[in-house]
Amino acid sequence: MIERKIVTSVLVYTYEELSEEYKRLVDEAKRVTQNSYAPYSKFNVGAAVLLENGEIVCGTNQENAAYPSGLCAERVTMFYANSKYPNVAPRAIAIATFADGDFLEEPITPCGACRQVLLETEVRYGRDIDVLLFGRNGIYVLPNVKGLLPLSFDKSFLK
Ligand code: THU
Repeated sequence: MIERKIVTSVLVYTYEELSEEYKRLVDEAKRVTQNSYAPYSKFNVGAAVLLENGEIVCGTNQENAAYPSGLCAERVTMFYANSKYPNVAPRAIAIATFADGDFLEEPITPCGACRQVLLETEVRYGRDIDVLLFGRNGIYVLPNVKGLLPLSFDKSFLK
């Protein structure tokens, strides 16, 4: 028997420590939380994707009275970015949540299905995507989606 360790490292930044570009990305993710449609959970999630062409594409969670028909902010935004700019690779995604009158102190992390969708995009364009998770107590920064989804399934298994 051998043990294989899979290590994920997260850097925790203050807002001031971020580059100007990433400050703007986080600002956008926070701003769009106000556009979220979340009448059931009242958990307003915003996402902002920075593309290689410098463009920022934003989106929010969209809920539905038939609960499973809703979709998380990360998937709404990444699908939107990939639809609008199918030939441009995403460089980074920022995520922020507003609930009970304020942004969350601790960042939320994307659900499993969103991680799989973000991973597909990372593999599709062959370029790591920085993941920035905003919390008032600190901003988690990961250098790629693979680190969020160890032992993941991707197209390499389909060959
Ligand atoms: N949600 C997101 O948009 N992103 C996440 O990473 C976690 C959860 C949404 C789904 C639903 O609208 C609400 O937050 C509560 O789960």
